[in-house]
Amino acid sequence: MPAYSPLSLVFLAVLGAAASQPSLSDAQVSEKWNRLGNLSPYHKAPIPSGVKEVLPADCRVDQVMLTGRHGSRYPLASELIFITNMTAKLSSNAQAISRSRLPKELRFLENGYTSTLGHDDLTAVGRQELFDHGVNFRLRYQHLTADAILAGDQDRVIESAQWFGQGYFGRSWSEISGNAFSTIPEDNVTVSWITPMDTCPKWQYAFGGDAVTSWGNKYLPSITKRLNRLTPALRFTDADTHGALYACAYDYAALRTSPWCGAFTDQEIASFEYELDLLMNGAFGYNLPGDMGPTLGSLYVNKLIERFSNSSSDAKAVYLEFGHDTTIDMALTALGLAKDSPPLSPTGPVRPKRKFRTSEQVPFAAQMVWEKFSCDSSFHGPQIRLVLNDSPFPLTFCSKTSSDRSYGTCSFDAFVSKNSFSTSRQWGDAAWNATCGASSL
Ligand SMILES: *[C@@H]1O[C@H](CO)[C@@H](O)[C@H](O)[C@H]1NC(C)=O
Ligand SMILES: *[C@@H]1O[C@H](CO)[C@@H](O)[C@H](O)[C@H]1NC(C)=O
Ligand SMILES: *[C@@H]1O[C@H](CO)[C@@H](O)[C@H](O)[C@H]1NC(C)=O
Ligand SMILES: *[C@@H]1O[C@H](CO)[C@@H](O)[C@H](O)[C@H]1NC(C)=O
Repeated sequence: MPAYSPLSLVFLAVLGAAASQPSLSDAQVSEKWNRLGNLSPYHKAPIPSGVKEVLPADCRVDQVMLTGRHGSRYPLASELIFITNMTAKLSSNAQAISRSRLPKELRFLENGYTSTLGHDDLTAVGRQELFDHGVNFRLRYQHLTADAILAGDQDRVIESAQWFGQGYFGRSWSEISGNAFSTIPEDNVTVSWITPMDTCPKWQYAFGGDAVTSWGNKYLPSITKRLNRLTPALRFTDADTHGALYACAYDYAALRTSPWCGAFTDQEIASFEYELDLLMNGAFGYNLPGDMGPTLGSLYVNKLIERFSNSSSDAKAVYLEFGHDTTIDMALTALGLAKDSPPLSPTGPVRPKRKFRTSEQVPFAAQMVWEKFSCDSSFHGPQIRLVLNDSPFPLTFCSKTSSDRSYGTCSFDAFVSKNSFSTSRQWGDAAWNATCGASSL
């Protein structure tokens, strides 16, 4: 696996340039942008220590399945309201704020702060992330050819898949074949490994939302107090503070800079990052009740196994599919990867060594790539590897041989047998119904 193609180096250089503009707030942003949980821009995940990044030279990837998250987007409408309210607060207190002695991290408020963020749609940053991914994927797997793209039927996912397609196939790719591009509904009547929670009646977003509320009650007040002490004219509430944290993340997602990121300490950003981990873990991960997390993710694991088991000569070599951070988190949960023990607690503390890290695992434009590979002599028989955000993600449930451990890989047979939780269930069977409630599809 080539580490960085020239194109992604250019992309990083651009990022670096944007982050090193002279103002103080931008300099501080450069330290923080990749710790904004699932609202972070795309970045390569760290390579786990002791794990080799590149497979031995005698190995070839025979099949690959990409599950991509849509790129950087504007805030959801439910998040934008926090930013809008905070901005309205600033403008109604504008005179008092401009008469205040502003500390350096809030000096940008001298000229007011306005926001023109949209909501829900992909941003320019998101377009670039996906286009670059398409190019890089083409360069990385030159010997394998894709002939189709599948996207969850939501605007930002579809647009992401289209930009990827432009990068991968070129501008006339829609003419390659009549059905090269297709969508799968994201609704409560379509069984889908991309959005399995939508056909699980007992699933609720509140499983994560409630954790966010508890944690917010714990960490936001002291930030609000600090900001109001610095500049009493702000008169921030905790909701305004939350809005300012969102403004940091979403200005960055849309513009690659935000004066707000510099207004927070590293520890405050770490508390916000933890909020995002709690949300995803609670609604799409290990903190779902009972075995709901692995049950939902089993649809994905079974799809992967079905494809990599297909020995028919017309089995596809490449799957290019697009969905959400939730898709990836549920898959990790079914696989038992990135699991914390004890589980993450909505009252803290923030454990800096926790394994479930949305910043590294599901930033915008995250890429979960599964490689099925074989080797002349380094490994015997078909093997499987997970490359998550351009770095190997060790399949720790395997690690039978020293090669497994060096490369984080698994023989495909061992992978299948270790995932008996998933392979022993399917949508709508007794186990699914017990966890999700019977669905009337
Ligand atoms: C935003 O402001 C409106 C009007 O004051 C208020 O009703 C609403 O609860 C606020 N929303 C948030 C998320 O703070
Ligand atoms: C699907 O959602 C619609 C509303 O969006 C609702 O009316 C319908 O009952 C739901 N169907 C199932 C099978 O849950
Ligand atoms: C194997 O792949 C081919 C081509 O995509 C498909 O038609 C067939 O249904 C697959 N078989 C299985 C068992 O999944
Ligand atoms: C699960 O629930 C569905 C919908 O009610 C039903 O059709 C199906 O038979 C149930 N499965 C089992 C194994 O009971």
